[in-house]
Amino acid sequence: MVELTLPQNSKVKKGKHHPAPKGAKKVRRFKIYRYNPDTGENPRWDTYDLDLDTCGPMVLDAILAIKNTMDSTLALRRSCREGVCGSCAMNIAGRNTLACTKGVDDLPEGQITIAPLPHMPVIKDLVPDLSTFMAQYASIEPWLQTTTPEPQSEWRQSPSERASVDGLYECILCACCTTSCPSYWWNGDRYLGPAALLQAYRWIADSRDEATGKRLDELEDPFKLYRCHTIMNCAQVCPKGLNPARAISTIKKLMVERQV
Ligand code: SF4
Ligand code: SF4
Ligand code: FES
Repeated sequence: MVELTLPQNSKVKKGKHHPAPKGAKKVRRFKIYRYNPDTGENPRWDTYDLDLDTCGPMVLDAILAIKNTMDSTLALRRSCREGVCGSCAMNIAGRNTLACTKGVDDLPEGQITIAPLPHMPVIKDLVPDLSTFMAQYASIEPWLQTTTPEPQSEWRQSPSERASVDGLYECILCACCTTSCPSYWWNGDRYLGPAALLQAYRWIADSRDEATGKRLDELEDPFKLYRCHTIMNCAQVCPKGLNPARAISTIKKLMVERQV
């Protein structure tokens, strides 16, 4: 029988426990993935008993309280703390989401497990390496492309043309969808993944853009687009309520329509 197991240096070991300060009344345990490539040690799970009375209500507040009062070595990304920049995306209680918009009280009772976004190389602790993700985004050329001479003022759109990019332009490139997609886990070097494809469709759907044919030509590839198997994890996890799977299926439909 095949035995599936992690290589020795990838096994996540039990780490340090950080107890709550004396007198803490509202204590919740956080189990957090720790990895520091500089030490040469395996990753580990550290546990922190945090007094929730000392921090704000969101998971990001709790992680920052841990970093500020219990363990300053914990690394994470964050910036806006209001669901706009996408930098605090991580896996919280088994689901990719934004730490700044997820309430601690909204999570199931008991210990809260926090890990970096899955299936990405880890730079340190909760900081994934998003270089490939960003290169894939750049590959779809995410800017307005036209051959018509630039108008004197602005490129005009009717209200309905403008509405055609609703549900697309709101993407904050947090990578929650792409890193939850099993097809991306297996073919992440060649499949563009839901975020880049949603962004590709954002420009295809834009009435001002005149490069639709070129954009579709670029995506006409067995791996870049057609590895999506409509598993729908992407739409389930998107913290902005977007539906990359729908955008992908619309691109596939456009591919068929232009053949006939
Ligand atoms: S619908 Fe497509 S892009 Fe979304 S998770 Fe499934 S395979 Fe990935
Ligand atoms: S589609 Fe949603 S989950 Fe995916 S990168 Fe954009 S905002 Fe994040
Ligand atoms: S800190 Fe910007 S989205 Fe969470």
